[in-house]
Amino acid sequence: MNFLFYCQGDDGGMLQAFSDQLTDHTVIDWNSCHLDDSQRASIDAAIVWMPPDDFFDGLCNLSQVYALAAGVDQLLEHPGLPTDAVIVRLQDAGMAAQMSEYVLYGVLHAHRRFKDFRRAQQRREWIHGVNVPSASQVSVGVLGAGALGLQVAVRLQLNGYPIRCWTRTQRSMPEGIGLAVGHAELDCFLAESQVLVCLLPLTDETRGILNRSLFDKLPKGAFIINVARGAHVVDEDLISALDVGQLSGALLDVFHTEPLPAEHPFWDHPQILITPHEAANSLVDASVKQTLSSIRQLELGELPPGVVDRARGY
Ligand code: NAP
Ligand code: GLV
Repeated sequence: MNFLFYCQGDDGGMLQAFSDQLTDHTVIDWNSCHLDDSQRASIDAAIVWMPPDDFFDGLCNLSQVYALAAGVDQLLEHPGLPTDAVIVRLQDAGMAAQMSEYVLYGVLHAHRRFKDFRRAQQRREWIHGVNVPSASQVSVGVLGAGALGLQVAVRLQLNGYPIRCWTRTQRSMPEGIGLAVGHAELDCFLAESQVLVCLLPLTDETRGILNRSLFDKLPKGAFIINVARGAHVVDEDLISALDVGQLSGALLDVFHTEPLPAEHPFWDHPQILITPHEAANSLVDASVKQTLSSIRQLELGELPPGVVDRARGY
């Protein structure tokens, strides 16, 4: 098979790893070749992260697309993506451990009132005697319990936080981690989430889910951690909920436009903490190993884990 490779930000390591491993196939670097029409027609599969607008042009025999990411929203929105190609995405690939650390930091930041200490430091004020509840009194809700959400929930539980996840479909959960399913159980789930973590895929159903109506259903003073996609948030609703005190703060890793434009009000907002889409990066070895395993499974006529259901959007 002929594989066309494009990975934004790859320093050559990922391309080399695929070339070294796929010795029974040909791996073509999109960046270093200008393919003519017949070469384009000979491409069977693509391995991609953030492919450029003209990437899929002329790939009329493309039947498989391997996404080097957990989220496939940008890929599914790509106007050139062939409608009948099988798409396989990464699951975990080293991201779950990093995501768990990141979210644990965010929950501790809110729970242990680091924001207040930081502000007091700026005023050179010694705010001794701050009343901090125990972890067992700070309930955390995680939107999503997939490859990442579930591991995040497990880590938070190990640190003593009462934890519940929200999913689209019923599933079994590790002991002690609660589950709410579907819209019927969402309001009750929100009412109990003093910290709300978003780890949903971006789909037609979840776009804009972090809006004013949802924020108003959380306990007053709740804290938001968005590590999924920027378009889950209605930005002006987040600012208004912070400004009236319905929310006490937000830790945001993802934004509608990335990099976040310099004039965006999030940068200066005193209750918003920003990181530049760095919560969790897939690891090269794990990504290559998992993608190779998916390629081999499809060769054997088996369905690998991580096949994207286009109708549901993840
Ligand atoms: P995943 O394995 O596909 O899990 C998605 C979870 O969301 C599942 O539990 C799913 O429910 C739930 N869900 C989907 N649609 C829903 C809906 N309409 N209502 C309720 N629940 C819904 O995804 P993942 O690998 O954990 O990754 C999640 C997202 O994290 C990615 O899509 C990506 O956007 C983001 N991400 C961000 C970073 C970063 O650095 N910031 C890194 C990696 C990934 P079911 O269990 O019922 O299917
Ligand atoms: C990163 O954001 C990913 O979806 O893997």
